[in-house]
Amino acid sequence: MTTERPVGEALRDLTVPPGVPGSGRLRYVAAMDLWLAGEIPAETLEVYRICAALDGEDPTTLLAARGLGLGHRGALLRLLAELDRCLSVCPGPGVAEVRAGLAAARPSPAPPAPRLHPAVTTHLPAALAAMQATLPELTSAIGSASGALAWDAYDRYPPDRIGEGFRTGNAFAVLVGDDGPYSAGDFDLGLFLIAPQRVYRDHRHAAPELYLPFTGPHGWRFGPGTPLLVKPALEPVWNEPYAPHLTKVGPVPFLCLYAWTRDAQSAAEVIPADDWPELEARIL
Ligand SMILES: [Fe+2]
Repeated sequence: MTTERPVGEALRDLTVPPGVPGSGRLRYVAAMDLWLAGEIPAETLEVYRICAALDGEDPTTLLAARGLGLGHRGALLRLLAELDRCLSVCPGPGVAEVRAGLAAARPSPAPPAPRLHPAVTTHLPAALAAMQATLPELTSAIGSASGALAWDAYDRYPPDRIGEGFRTGNAFAVLVGDDGPYSAGDFDLGLFLIAPQRVYRDHRHAAPELYLPFTGPHGWRFGPGTPLLVKPALEPVWNEPYAPHLTKVGPVPFLCLYAWTRDAQSAAEVIPADDWPELEARIL
């Protein structure tokens, strides 16, 4: 990396809307930083240079006219920017910490190679279709970046404790974290997908955690034996360290932003409960 500026910070400037006085110059400086960091190609930087004196001009129009996109890394950058935009209108605890982590993101020295996962191939299209009307820009950004991400099943639990339903029906991709294309110290953020009607059994971990679901409704409970609360899309869930939580996925695949704001390498553990079979059989 040849610039000291975090890409998250540069992204915020790159995506300042056209019309704001001085925004053309702001976008060009941001594009220069991203080019220096190897995040966008020279042809794309040239478009931002041309638009530097044109505060009212949207550079993405000229990019499209020239048949240019932001490239492979650019798709990831656009996703980071859209996730931040989505968080910026979210209320509640943890959101500010997550946005601070995003702003501090820097390119990882060894980004993972993209890989798909069967749960993504099967369930991501339905999740994106469900959020298209309410979150068109984010839907497009996730769709464009999904092939550039390294998807895996979260398999760090004993298989018999976490259950077959979750084990075979989930996938996640790190965007900012030790195993992701970007990193920001002790911080982990990415996308998480679970198949319809599956249960992510009661569990807890040292890391404070934010979920921002883009689809819904889904059921949640915060301790074995407590009632299931049904929450809509875009209602954030903040879990304090070691707070128990369970997710019962609804009729559409669960797709969310997840973030661990510290203790990102800590392990999660399943908390025993005797009603999982009933919850797993229930149709929400
Ligand atoms: Fe969790």
